[in-house]
Formats: sequence, C-alpha cells, structure tokens
Amino acid sequence: MEPTRVVLDQEETPKRWYNILADAPTPPPPLNPATRSPVDPGDLARLFPAELIRQEMTNERFVDIPDELRDAYRLLNRPSILQRAVHLERYLRTPAKIYFKREDLSPTGSHKPNTAFAQAYYNREEGVERLVTETGAGQWGSALALAARHFGLQCKVFMVRASYDQKPYRRHVMRLYGADVAASPSEETPFGRSLLEKQPDHPGSLGVAISEALQFVVSDPRSKYALGSVLNHVLLHQTVIGLEAQKQFEQLDLVPDYMVGCVGGGSNFGGFAYPMIGESLRRGGGTTEFVAVEPTAVPSMTQGRYDYDFADTAQMTPLLKMHTLGSDFVPSPIHAGGLRYHGCAPTLSVLVDAGVVKARAVDQLSSFEAGRLFANTEGIIPAPESSHAIRAAIDLALAAKREREPKVIAFNLSGHGLLDLEGYSAFLEGRLPGETALSGSPVPAAS
Ligand SMILES: Cc1ncc(COP(=O)(O)O)c(C=O)c1O
Repeated sequence: MEPTRVVLDQEETPKRWYNILADAPTPPPPLNPATRSPVDPGDLARLFPAELIRQEMTNERFVDIPDELRDAYRLLNRPSILQRAVHLERYLRTPAKIYFKREDLSPTGSHKPNTAFAQAYYNREEGVERLVTETGAGQWGSALALAARHFGLQCKVFMVRASYDQKPYRRHVMRLYGADVAASPSEETPFGRSLLEKQPDHPGSLGVAISEALQFVVSDPRSKYALGSVLNHVLLHQTVIGLEAQKQFEQLDLVPDYMVGCVGGGSNFGGFAYPMIGESLRRGGGTTEFVAVEPTAVPSMTQGRYDYDFADTAQMTPLLKMHTLGSDFVPSPIHAGGLRYHGCAPTLSVLVDAGVVKARAVDQLSSFEAGRLFANTEGIIPAPESSHAIRAAIDLALAAKREREPKVIAFNLSGHGLLDLEGYSAFLEGRLPGETALSGSPVPAAS
C-alpha cells in the first residue's frame, strides 16, 4: 500500500515565516483617507502592537518565529499532515493525484489559529490587556478566543448578528474559552447604535462588525485590535502552511501542477501558496498554476474593481488597494460565512492583477455537492468555505481525466464543517439555490 500521508516531525515546524513582499510586485501602499498619502506606522499604533506594524511593512524575506510561539504551534497540531485523497481519486477515476493540507485538525477546526496565536503573543509582549475583533461564522473569533486565553489576555468579539442567531455553537466555543461575545450591530458602539436605530433587526455584516470592533478599541486604551485576514502580517503568519507543504512535496519528490485555495480575505490561500509562488517568481517562472477560488455570490477577484477601498463599512480603516465589490456591498447570506467579504488581501490582489494567480468563482450548490462528495469518499466533512477549493480541485481532476494527464493537484483544507451542519441540512433538503450541480452520484462508486 502506498502511504497516503506525509507527516513531518514536530521539530520541523517552520522557524521562520515567509514574506511574499520580498519577491512579488509590491502592492500600492495603504493610504490615509483624509490626506490620501501613504499610511505612517504611527497611524496604526493605536490599533496594533509595534512588532505587528513592523511585520506589516517589512520587505525582508523571512521573519523569525519566536520559540514560545513555536511551542504554542504544537498545540495547533503543527506541522499539519499533507494527505492524499486516494478514495476521491478512485471515485473520480482520474489519473490525477489529489493532496490536501489538513488545517481542519487545529483545536478550533481551521487555519485561523496560525495567526491568532501570533497576534496574541505579540500583544502580550507589549503589555496589551484585551484583544478586540469581529467574526462572521465564528472560526476567527474562536481562534482568537483560544489564543487570548493561552497568552493570558481578555478577548472581546463582535459577531455578525445573523450568525450569532443562526449558528450558536461557535458562540458557545468562544464563551467557553472565556471571550465576551456581542451580536453586531450592538448597543455597545455608536456605529452599532446608529444602525439599530434605523433597523432594529439589522442582520449585520463583516464590514459592520469590523467598524464596531475598531470603535470599541479606540475608546479603550487597554485594548488592541486583531484582524483575521487581508493584512500582510496575517498572511505572513499563515505561511507556516505553505512552508510545511513545500517540505512535504520535496519528500514526495513531486511538484504540484496546481495549488488551490478558497478566498475570503485571502489568508489561507496566501498561507498555502505564497512560499511556492515566491520560489516560482525567484526562478522567473515555474510549472505550478495557482488557483484562488471565491463564491459567485461574492466575486471580488473575478468581477470586482481593482481600486482603493475601505476594509470596513463605517469607512474607518486606511484605504487598501484591492479587488473589491465596494465597502457597502452586502453579500447574500451564503453558508460559507468566512467568504462573505467585499475585498481581498492587497498582496493577493496584486498577484491576481499580474496574472500570477488565477481566480475562479464557484456557486454555493456546486461547492456543497463537492463537500458531500469529499465527505462520502474521504470521510471528512469540510467547512463550506473549503468546499469551494474542493470543487475547483475536483474540476481540475476531471479535466486531467479527460486529457489523460497524471496531474498533481494540491488544495488547502482550511477547516472542517462539523459546526456548519445547518448548511449541509439545507443542502440535503434541497433548500439551497444554485446553478451547476456536480455530475455523478454522491455515493462513491465501488473502487
Ligand atoms: C474554514 C475557513 N476557510 C476560509 C476562510 C476564509 O478566510 P481567508 O480567505 O482569510 O482564509 C475562513 C474565514 O473565516 C474560514 O473559516
């Protein structure tokens, strides 16, 4: 039997993060909206600790990971397994090899703790007492809640009201880790109050929750803000995923033909693909194609404009040059809550614009079909977000079958879907609107 897992020793947890800014075209700088001049590090000091601001702006290729953080990464099951989806391959009868990185095996069930732990660590080092953030479906909020608990900080989370009401389980997880969770829009900030006054049943959005978290931080000198995606330092921390994957593919003596990841703000895709993209840029080209997958309901990369825009709805943040649908865009309530964001990381936007990364959009029904097929063949119930990447990987494997090419396809399994079962239930009951269904039966063919 051929092994289906590549497991690295704990000692092989990366010692440094990789910074794509050293090799990729530099994105235009964030601008101060009042002056339209580039943001000064001092402008960010109220929100972030100094070391994270330094990491946000540095061009150095590698940034050391402190020993205490590498120690904490063991708690996240780092290095994560690279696994081969042989049962899916057999079902598809494809000559392609499909590999996936298991970010679903962290304690909170996604890749988000890779940066949550880093951010909590640096905040504690600089004497911050409380971290404040927003969360959609709760993956990021639960990651930050655990990280804050681990490093002895308090945690305040503004959770999009629609998810707060419909998806109580991650709210319970956050509270179990000791976080204080408010439904956003809330009565706790001027922006939240102004929205509730106009619309008492306002469902909230990530942009609104970011605005509330920022207003809360600005009013409390003991607090700082933590963001779960989009910013350079967040994607930097996530590169532990891709650095491990690079080693794992080296051990297999394979170079992936495709690296695929889903995109909300871009952090799991960037973390997975940037080390390999950097290598290919340094060599002046490579054979790997990088595929970033978004929902058709939130098509920032495939249909948005590439322009300066705010990262939040109340327009409090610096202007970021990114693929955006507009900071007032309210996405339809798809179950992949973590992909419902109007923009996309500036470092990823510049790579999409340069054609280094290819963007694709997948509709909700097709992504759930892919999620079910993955669950039926590999046994793992993927997060609805990750199912977008799975759908694209399956399409590539079917194309390889048509072309009789033994392609190597790698995707990032950014999280599990065990707390997203309402979405799967709606899917099973035929309540999800959608366009193209995946062909074939959901029950795996005998192999
Ligand atoms: C499981 C999972 N995958 C993907 C995402 C999308 O975010 P990002 O693009 O930053 O990886 C999220 C966001 O919450 C998530 O929870």
